[in-house]
Amino acid sequence: MPTFTATAPGKIILFGEHAVVYGHPALAVPVTKVCAKAIITGESQAKVPEMRVVAPDIGLDAPLSGLKPGNPAREVIKSVFATLGVTQIPPCTLTVTSTIPIASGLGSGAAISAAIIRALSAFLKHPLPNEQVSALAYEIEKIHHGTPSGIDNTVIAFEKPVYFVKPLPSLNGRGTGGEGPAIQTFSIPQPFTILIGNTGISSLTKETVGDVRQAWQANPKRYQRIFAAVGSIAKAARHAIESGHPARLGPLMDENHYFLQEMGVSSPELDRLVNAARQAGALGAKLSGGGRGGNMIALAEKPQADAVAQAMLKAGAMGIIITQVGE
Ligand code: MEV
Repeated sequence: MPTFTATAPGKIILFGEHAVVYGHPALAVPVTKVCAKAIITGESQAKVPEMRVVAPDIGLDAPLSGLKPGNPAREVIKSVFATLGVTQIPPCTLTVTSTIPIASGLGSGAAISAAIIRALSAFLKHPLPNEQVSALAYEIEKIHHGTPSGIDNTVIAFEKPVYFVKPLPSLNGRGTGGEGPAIQTFSIPQPFTILIGNTGISSLTKETVGDVRQAWQANPKRYQRIFAAVGSIAKAARHAIESGHPARLGPLMDENHYFLQEMGVSSPELDRLVNAARQAGALGAKLSGGGRGGNMIALAEKPQADAVAQAMLKAGAMGIIITQVGE
């Protein structure tokens, strides 16, 4: 029986989370050390009469018709069928696995969606291009996140470093605002080392994004100032990376973390890991993603990376990924 396998990497936001939801730029890179994988195996009609969905990590093994509306796997599959105009589903088994920690800011939801979209569209003989993989995954992100900026699905579908600006609807409802094209990839002439430290605390992006929205609505001037400052940091960071001076990202990370604290999305656990990394010689550190749990990142010179990792583990990190950005 034919088998189609597709993977999608995790992602990490280097700069600009939350502010990106309000139209300011953010930088994110794929993390290929972790990934989501979708495998589709065609089955003979006699063995499996319809599509079966298996996700051993969460104990799921059910026919597609048994998944409730709103279930992200069901919605991804249905969106691929709708896009390709498929009404008769060939019998098959979809198996989904992932090494990306859930609810940790590494984009596990978007990666699972992208892997399923790729494997399923290939199985149906119409492999979808990255743009469409990203657009469909964005629709599913809305179920996970409510008002996602689109950065997660973009970096994961294109598997490239991304400078992302969410297009904002213009005030008169025509066209889009924002600053030019939403997705720009950027070059990294000088690779750099990032440590990703997991607090082990699950945190739903939907909740932190919702809380920031409420706080912004209550105090728009203060939050607009914070978002604009974070946007300027993201721009400066892109310049530092492209001009081959990644060490300059350290102080920018520290500054960005300060503004995330001001937004109310850090937590004692994240601050502890950030401080431990800085004290152990990291050039800078910040939370990454939605916040209140999940992951933080630290920038370190390669020789210091192990010492920084040890300090983060001592400060309570439940897992560490060391990744070279730009290699
Ligand atoms: C989540 O990975 C990043 C946030 O900025 C939300 C979003 O951009 O959709 C917190």
